[in-house]
Amino acid sequence: MTNTTWTRRHILSLADFTGVEYDTVLQTAASFREVLSRRVKKVPTLQGQVVCNLFFESSTRTRSSFELAAKRLSADTLNFTPSTSSLTKGETILDTAKTYLAMGADIMVIRHREAGVPQAVATEMNRLGVRVGVLNAGDGQHEHPSQALLDLFTICSLLDPKNPRLELLAGKKVAIVGDILHSRVARSNIWSITATGAELHLAGPPTLLPKLFADYGTGRAGKLFLHWEIEPALADADLVMTLRLQKERMSQHLLPSLREYHQRYGITRSLLKLCKPDVKVLHPGPVNRGVEISSDLMDDSQFSLISQQVTSGVAVRMALLYLMGSGKT
Ligand code: NCD
Repeated sequence: MTNTTWTRRHILSLADFTGVEYDTVLQTAASFREVLSRRVKKVPTLQGQVVCNLFFESSTRTRSSFELAAKRLSADTLNFTPSTSSLTKGETILDTAKTYLAMGADIMVIRHREAGVPQAVATEMNRLGVRVGVLNAGDGQHEHPSQALLDLFTICSLLDPKNPRLELLAGKKVAIVGDILHSRVARSNIWSITATGAELHLAGPPTLLPKLFADYGTGRAGKLFLHWEIEPALADADLVMTLRLQKERMSQHLLPSLREYHQRYGITRSLLKLCKPDVKVLHPGPVNRGVEISSDLMDDSQFSLISQQVTSGVAVRMALLYLMGSGKT
């Protein structure tokens, strides 16, 4: 596999991703999906390189899929666990990153509860003049680029399994429903979906969908709409993405009750009747069953793409590590 177009050292945000970059990720992920279907699911692409997973906040699928992706590319992986690290002895995050740098880190995959931490580490690596790539695996409420890219890959692969590409989504109607305010997944998806030329409809209660989100639509290829009722967002939608209520990020009581939230904004089979007959439902996980989505719908393979999203995560993260690391081998 050759890669002549990729010039981005760090992947921190999708705000300035270009169409060429999206298509490069989608095509590269498609070739790694082929690798993952082989009997021997491993390639020597990143042999000798060190990928460090610095997760300062909990994670199941993102952390495990980055680790598996690095291993499938034959990189050496280091996993950091804050509770058993020197952070508990007062070491700063930048000093932790420099410790990994001194051990030969080539790529740092960083998740942190504060927005801007991956950016701060990337700035420090640039200042030191070292060729280390930093990948944002979720920072506070800011962004989660690899999640939005795997969502895009899952959707585009559904539309054309052999040749997933950005233009396939042009003219489609996509709805994102739920706790938009606290969601880094929603923020990254707003950038990627509006880059395709799709119509993006955001829906949620006013406390979780402030008007300022309308500004995200300025100058994008696809139009952005905000709704405080769910029905207009779902009407004739091709794709519906629902989000977890991020209770750990809510500083005030923003909802009357979970039951009422489910009644008004929970995705159910009967609400899906408003959408196109072949509508598909996405959720980045972890899911609160019976809150943002009904339990039976989550497990219904006619509608739910949730397990395909997890599977896509490995191929897409292999693509990102490959693109960031390939300039060095
Ligand atoms: C998301 C996250 O951590 O931002 N999950 C994920 O990475 N798959 C969404 C969430 O926590 O609800």
